[in-house]
Amino acid sequence: MRILVCTWNLKPSCLRFFSYAVVSVLHKMEDDRMSEKQKKATTSTLKKMKGSGQPIAMITAYDYPSAKLAGQAGADIILVGDSLGMVVLGYDSTVPVTLDDMVHHSKAVSRGAPGTFIVADMPFATYHGSTDRTILNAARLMQEGRVQALKLEGGQEIIDQVQSCIRAGIPVMGHIGLTPQSVLQLGGWKVQGKSPEQARKLLDDARALERAGAFAIVLEMVPEEVAEMISSHLSIPTIGIGSGRFCDGQVLVYHDVLSYATPIQPSFVKHYANIGDEIRVAIEQYVNDVKTRQFPEERHAPHIDATTLDPMRDVSDKQGDPR
Ligand code: KIV
Repeated sequence: MRILVCTWNLKPSCLRFFSYAVVSVLHKMEDDRMSEKQKKATTSTLKKMKGSGQPIAMITAYDYPSAKLAGQAGADIILVGDSLGMVVLGYDSTVPVTLDDMVHHSKAVSRGAPGTFIVADMPFATYHGSTDRTILNAARLMQEGRVQALKLEGGQEIIDQVQSCIRAGIPVMGHIGLTPQSVLQLGGWKVQGKSPEQARKLLDDARALERAGAFAIVLEMVPEEVAEMISSHLSIPTIGIGSGRFCDGQVLVYHDVLSYATPIQPSFVKHYANIGDEIRVAIEQYVNDVKTRQFPEERHAPHIDATTLDPMRDVSDKQGDPR
């Protein structure tokens, strides 16, 4: 109440600054409350979670609001996935996503969820040349994107790059099975590791990544039995997507979880809301309100009182304003 009385006499510019300051303090208090509720994960707490059989919940986020909500909801890890190429930027795969795209989105996510452990994807072909170039790209994503770890797709063929990142102090999450950046080479979005040879290769890749120092590995679209076998052979956690019940954690794409205008609907996804339909209906109502002059109403605009308005009317009358 006292705040309201004091702000009554402030100029509009001061008032705007004042409201901005109040909103910032409220945001900070909310973030503090959320981070008290749940401590930010680290690579070692994630490993301990595996040890104590506690499932790890990871979800993607691509901007400030999605990160904020994922953090508030208690996700252990937020992944700034290069899936953003498909669900946010409208490409038909993750191949066109650039390092600039990943830096841009990682910055927003790290502002939205400062209390959550954030991993960002190294995008297509940014870690396949020399280890020097890999480190330069990785350092840029860490420093500008302000994330805590990077995810690299591939197994034994990228071990040198994984090791050089780890030597540079960058925590690395592996990703094997269906690796979307190689979808053109894999011949489509297919389950991986169905034959004994393929399953053996996945296990060898997972072990090589663990030996190289990766702190966790995503297993994408691998048969449940193979994912269970790999998980049981590793001391680091596996995070499954479309790989069944027995991984140490699970990850899903934000837009899939919420049915938020997604281009494809993978069969392994569970939909927890239908946000896309809700948004469309809300926007239809807005468009209809504008077209039928039901929005804005009197209360949606600032007003001035008649004593301020009268002299203005005099001026416009004298100038012959036809209104
Ligand atoms: O890019 C991404 O979102 C991912 C997850 C599907 C694991 O890599």
